[in-house]
Amino acid sequence: MIGKNILVFGGSGQIGRHLIRRLTNNNHLVTVATRNLHTKGSILKTQGNPGYIQIVETNIFEEEKLYNLIKDKDVCINLIGILYESKKNTFKNIHVNFPNIISRISKEQKLEQFIHISALGIEKAKDSQYALSKLEGEMKIIKNFPEATILRPSIIYSIDDNFTTNLMSLLNLMPFFPIYYNGKTKFSPLHVSDMSQIILSIIEKNICSEIIECVGPEEISFKQILEKLLFSIDRKKILIPFPLVIAKLLAFFLEKFPKPLLTRDQLNLLKYDNVLSGNRKSNIDIGFISKLKFENEIKKYSYMWKRGGEYSK
Ligand SMILES: NC(=O)c1ccc[n+]([C@@H]2O[C@H](COP(=O)([O-])OP(=O)(O)OC[C@H]3O[C@@H](n4cnc5c(N)ncnc54)[C@H](OP(=O)(O)O)[C@@H]3O)[C@@H](O)[C@H]2O)c1
Repeated sequence: MIGKNILVFGGSGQIGRHLIRRLTNNNHLVTVATRNLHTKGSILKTQGNPGYIQIVETNIFEEEKLYNLIKDKDVCINLIGILYESKKNTFKNIHVNFPNIISRISKEQKLEQFIHISALGIEKAKDSQYALSKLEGEMKIIKNFPEATILRPSIIYSIDDNFTTNLMSLLNLMPFFPIYYNGKTKFSPLHVSDMSQIILSIIEKNICSEIIECVGPEEISFKQILEKLLFSIDRKKILIPFPLVIAKLLAFFLEKFPKPLLTRDQLNLLKYDNVLSGNRKSNIDIGFISKLKFENEIKKYSYMWKRGGEYSK
């Protein structure tokens, strides 16, 4: 049985790659739009069985091309997002203008579903440009496509992330590790395979017109995340609470780099707990309870950051 005809934006990212595998394994036909076929094509091609995946290069602001991509699809999924701004890749362009365009075209073309990945905690983080832009993007989508489903995940992690993998590299390199807000900010890490399963359920159960918070099975602080990573890579490092002024100064310099490790906007965002708000539906309400625990899952790949590799003592 052939499933739905699904268009994915942002398919080369962490969630995208896992999602494409999940969708094609479940007989859905997937078209992935990428901005660079040469660098991303080879990665994308191997994510789906032959015949189930098509890859198309496009500039995400070329409306005519977007129209042609969207017009014959059943579902459009937007996974494009950025954590810091650069040149034309502003929060406004990526989190507001682009979702505005594709949700409008998706409605005009009478797609069955529009699924958009936003982020948890954006209603509280009023001093973060990232959060404000994600919230504005959500509002545009709901206006254009009232039946859209918006997912707000906490941190998504896996071997393909930029979170646990970067932290483990830094924990290995640095003699000590700075923590902000005393490391007390809480997260509810969700494994990427659970996130993909949630998106698949939304398609297969035809869930529409919802904002759904997506969380893992536990709430853990940033300090506990670092401790679990250190334990997993068998390292001992001192975690030093940084005063906010120094952290801001550090972020001011770091954000000048092309791929900054920390920006002042991220520092603002880090102040807010990234756990269920209690005001919205969650993955639990749609029948999906995540069981994958952070420390068990990171163990499956953290050995690559251990001195000597997997079987080292
Ligand atoms: N990962 C998390 O912990 C987390 C938590 C909450 C919300 N989210 C949201 O979930 C979504 C997917 O996350 P992810 O972890 O899969 O992100 P990711 O790994 O960083 O992937 C982001 C995707 O966006 C694409 N992209 C970025 N800028 C683009 C541009 N100017 N033009 C075209 N494509 C562009 C990237 O394409 P290239 O490969 O070509 O760069 C990539 O496919 C994002 O909206 C993110 O904000 C993620």
